[in-house]
Amino acid sequence: MSSVDLSIEVNGMLFENPFILGSGPPGTNARVISKSFNQGWGGCVIKTISLDVSKVINTNPRYAKLKHDKEVIGFENIELISDRPFETWLEECREIKTNFPKKMLIASVMEEYSKGAWQEIIERVQETGVDGFELNLSCPHGLPERRMGMAMGSNPDIVHEVVDWVMEVAKIPVWAKMTPNVGDPTLSAKAALDAKADGISLINTILSVIEVNLKTLRPMPTVEGHTVPGGYSGIAVRPIALRHVMEVAKAFPQTKISGMGGIHTGYDAAQFMLMGSHTVQVCTGAMIQGYGVITKLIDELTDFMTGHGFTRLEDFIGHSLDYFTTHADLVERQQEAKRTQAGKGNLDDRTWQGEIASETDSLTAN
Ligand SMILES: Cc1cc2nc3c(=O)[nH]c(=O)nc-3n(C[C@H](O)[C@H](O)[C@H](O)COP(=O)(O)O)c2cc1C
Repeated sequence: MSSVDLSIEVNGMLFENPFILGSGPPGTNARVISKSFNQGWGGCVIKTISLDVSKVINTNPRYAKLKHDKEVIGFENIELISDRPFETWLEECREIKTNFPKKMLIASVMEEYSKGAWQEIIERVQETGVDGFELNLSCPHGLPERRMGMAMGSNPDIVHEVVDWVMEVAKIPVWAKMTPNVGDPTLSAKAALDAKADGISLINTILSVIEVNLKTLRPMPTVEGHTVPGGYSGIAVRPIALRHVMEVAKAFPQTKISGMGGIHTGYDAAQFMLMGSHTVQVCTGAMIQGYGVITKLIDELTDFMTGHGFTRLEDFIGHSLDYFTTHADLVERQQEAKRTQAGKGNLDDRTWQGEIASETDSLTAN
């Protein structure tokens, strides 16, 4: 039997493993959520819901893939929130919780800038028995045209106000999901935490133009010849997501973070935890690899932990945060290393000879 325990308690919610399906197509109805739970996922954040779906009209196509060789390295979507009726979702949340009492079901919700609407959605959804909420303050396309999603989440004053409305009525844990389309991710996170959010989820997708078709000269995904900038996700966004998680974890060390953005393997998940994530979410990784990837994710995370002698997730969550410092400190450390041992030679800007590829290699971490 493995001596590794992957379970974790976060804000009073007990996850049998830290792998949660991120809000999006993987959690789009009760049928698929049940399928994922049967395959071993620890939890699911449902596709974002709102009170009035009559305004949610999707396009087809709404996805585009960026490939390198045959591998999908980046994914853009212009999908809106759930287009399924609110009442149907209430029934399905009840049904899922009855059938899977030990799996964590988190309701992603979004509303217009109205205290009444936010409080109504929270009160009605929490009656179904869901375990927690994730506030979608971060969808970067479509919804901002209605002053929702990222239009709210990139304004710390509005984040504070909305989270405050929610916390007045919420009886279960609330995570605020943040946008990466800002310079300093700590500002909106601080506003949410000041308003007493229980945790922070990040990142939502990055605004992008994935590709221009060189035959038609039309940007992708093309809908009747036109498009809008969409949300970028998948492997390519992982370094940006890790940076955002790191910034928030360092600024608010006690905060429970659910990290995501480009997690395709258990080793990717380990990196998010080393940056301070308590749980990890997978959206594009599941869309590309299928729900069955959960077995591989668990095996790889277990392998990482066994290799280091970690028996519980808490043994290494946030471990690598201490290794971030300032540039000035890096220089000082390197000068000190050179004094005490033969440190690496510096290639300063005068010494480049024009062998640019090998000179780049000589400055690259391995
Ligand atoms: C097709 C698609 C639909 C998405 N829909 C939602 C959504 O309804 N609500 C939400 O909060 N995030 C949504 N997301 C964002 C993901 O939950 C996640 O934050 C983002 O994609 C980064 O993680 P990933 O690289 O694992 O996909 C969606 C992502 C994709 C690819």
